[in-house]
Order: sequence, then C-alpha cells, then structure tokens
Amino acid sequence: MIKKGIILSGGKGTRMSPLTKAVNKQLLPIYDKPLIFYPLSILMLANIKDILIIVNKGQLNQYKKIIPNGDNLGIKITYKEQASPRGLPDAFILGEKFIDKENVALILGDNFFYGQSLTDQLLNNTKLKKGAKIILHKVIKPELYGVAKVGYKNKVIMIKEKPKKYLSDLAITGLYFFDNKVIDYAKKLKPSKRGEIEIVDLINKYKKNNKLSADIIGRGGAWLDTGSIEDFYKTSAFVSAIENRQGFKIACLEEIALNKKWISKKNIINSIKFYGNCDYSNYLKKLI
Ligand code: TTP
Repeated sequence: MIKKGIILSGGKGTRMSPLTKAVNKQLLPIYDKPLIFYPLSILMLANIKDILIIVNKGQLNQYKKIIPNGDNLGIKITYKEQASPRGLPDAFILGEKFIDKENVALILGDNFFYGQSLTDQLLNNTKLKKGAKIILHKVIKPELYGVAKVGYKNKVIMIKEKPKKYLSDLAITGLYFFDNKVIDYAKKLKPSKRGEIEIVDLINKYKKNNKLSADIIGRGGAWLDTGSIEDFYKTSAFVSAIENRQGFKIACLEEIALNKKWISKKNIINSIKFYGNCDYSNYLKKLI
C-alpha cells in the first residue's frame, strides 16, 4: 500500500500573472476554498495520511496560515521549500528523506479531479508494488498535453510530450504512483532544452524497463487542469454548479477525515473556530 504522497505546490504561475505575483497559484480560490484543498483531498481519499507539500521558497508562512499542520485532519503534513521551479521530478529529489524506502504518490498542486468511482480507482492504484502508474484522461486537444498510447492490460506503449502528429487522445494527468526507484531515476535526469528536469523523461525510464502502466479515468470522471485564468474560472464554475445543486462540498477536508474516522467531533469544532464565521464553517456545523 502506498502510504506517502507529495503535493507539488510551487511553480512560477506565469500564465496567471499578475494574480500570482504576490500569492502562489495554489492559494488562490477555486470557488469557495484554496486550490490546494483539491489535490490534498485526492490524497486523503486515497488513504494517504503522510503528506509532503513542496512550496516555493518564501511561501511557507502563507501555506501554514491555511494548513498549519495535519492535526485537525488526522494526517501528517510536512512542508519543504523548493529553491526554484526546476521541474516536476525535483519532488523526488527534495522528497528523498520523506519517501525513505517506501513507494510514493505525486499530485500536482493545480490538478482537479472529480468523479463517482474515483475513490475506488485511487485506492486500487495505491496497491502498486513495483513500477509506476500514470493516470490518463481523454481530451479533445491532445497536442497540448503529454499523452500516452496504451495497449493490452493498460501497459503504456508510448508517451510523448505535446505530440504534433496524432498518437492518442489520452492526456497524462498530474497524478502518479511510483515505486522507490523514482528517487534514483529522478537524480539521474538531465535538464531539457527549457532548462527543467521533465516528468516525461522520468516516466520514460519506467517505460523502457517495461514497468509503466496506466489507469484511465472514464467519462464519468472529470480532470481539470487549472493552469490558466480561463481554466481557473471554469473549474470554479464547475465546483459551484455541483455544490449549489447537491448541497455537498467538493474537497471539504474535514468531511473526508470524519468519514474515514481519522478525526472526531472535537476536531470539527476546532476547525469551525479556526475558519471563523463562513460558508465552509456552516457546512462543517451540519456535519456534526
Ligand atoms: P506548471 O504548470 O509546469 O507551471 P506553473 O504552475 O508554475 O505555471 P506556469 O506554466 O503558468 O508558469 O506546474 C504544474 C504544477 O507543478 C503547479 O502546481 C506548480 C508545480 N510545480 C512545482 O511546484 N515545482 C516545479 O518545479 C514545477 C515545474 C512545477
């Protein structure tokens, strides 16, 4: 079982400037909560309770104001600063001590997932013992993403970053599951032309060893990448539409922890005090 997870929550946020000049993208709102709540909720739904959040240098205090530690959620949160956004696989170099001898999940801080059978899929993926697993989702414009072509039993046959010629319409999302070899593989990566170490190069190492498989999120599930301002508002609209129609919140961290019996009524009361008089707190009140 994978019990550890990393949220990569730094980055330049260039596409969302000037919004991201003073505040990190993952602290900006997706409807009624900061973006970081959504990837964190995904790890929690996967029963991952030991979580490393990697943030930009100088941003730690702001993060701690929103998520001081995991105590009130029944989880363990560790923070680490990334000196500069030198690429996604840096998560495993910075996270070497945290990962230790175990396997690990990685989720990008700006990725949004939602769907009926998602939790089952997540739990199934944490069973990974050897190799790596990437999560795919069908998109209309595959040329804008890293894509994967899969074969028998979802083995990955080919992956390519932003393919000019059609390869597949399955985009590689920002959720990955790796065995412990990931640390060594990440350390051996050389920066690409754009000066970053690349996740595609990392997963290609697994592919070359025939150790890369995929899980596909079907049409009942949603994956939204919140990298641009337009995507940010679209994702907010999606959350607002679901929450206001059903009355359930997406990514209410305390609700997930309570359902999993990681916390008690007392923790919820603490959270209500912490958040103050707001819609999120009113929702928490209803839970108890
Ligand atoms: P990107 O979308 O590659 O970059 P970004 O978020 O900085 O945005 P932009 O392209 O507009 O400059 O990053 C994907 C996610 O990974 C995002 O949540 C930020 C995070 N990230 C890091 O934390 N460290 C890194 O070194 C990189 C490259 C990304």
